[in-house]
Amino acid sequence: MTSTISGLTVGLAILVGALGLGWPENRDAMLHADDNDWDSAHVAPFVPTPPEVVSRMLELAEIKQGDVLYDLGSGDGRIVVAAAKKFGIRAVGFEIDPGLVKDSRQFVKQAGLEELVEIREQDIRTVDFSPASVVTMYLYPAANLRLRPVLMRELKPGSRVISHDFGMGSWKPDHMERLRDTAGFSRTIYRWRIAEPSGR
Ligand SMILES: C[S@@+](CC[C@H](N)C(=O)[O-])C[C@H]1O[C@@H](n2cnc3c(N)ncnc32)[C@H](O)[C@@H]1O
Repeated sequence: MTSTISGLTVGLAILVGALGLGWPENRDAMLHADDNDWDSAHVAPFVPTPPEVVSRMLELAEIKQGDVLYDLGSGDGRIVVAAAKKFGIRAVGFEIDPGLVKDSRQFVKQAGLEELVEIREQDIRTVDFSPASVVTMYLYPAANLRLRPVLMRELKPGSRVISHDFGMGSWKPDHMERLRDTAGFSRTIYRWRIAEPSGR
């Protein structure tokens, strides 16, 4: 049943693309995930989150002074730059693609945010999450699921995890909402809050 639904979704994405209806920026690539994606170094392609969705993700993160944001697979750096610019917090992007690392470092420099924003060329499968209090991601569902126990173990209680478009299996978000981007496409944002150890 699940594979039928997933097949239909992928089929629909291809159809929309083929008809030229503007499925945004190869977003259908995000639907081609399976569990093996975690075993290869590239756990998601570069598909940027639209600016209005970035803004809403950051609002839902309930950012306060002293927060440290980690963006897992930071792409062109748009989330870390937006977080530092709007909230003045420290933000670290982890990116495996050297070209994107170079471009996003340039973007950070142009924005004058080198004091607050760092781009690390690092595989997210090796990250220590303990310094972070907000984690954002737009990754394959399989990657979310593999990250889930690590996030639960390493993040401090009260930390927020925000994901664009994909959930984390049975880990129920404390907030989930759908919104339309400016091109009219539906987006979903999930937020989880790390509970006190006894509540996990
Ligand atoms: C869907 S894009 C999201 C980009 C950005 N976070 C955003 O929302 O606009 C996923 C990013 O993860 C990066 N990525 C894939 N596998 C990775 C890994 N193992 N470690 C670090 N980055 C990775 C990709 O190169 C890509 O830039």
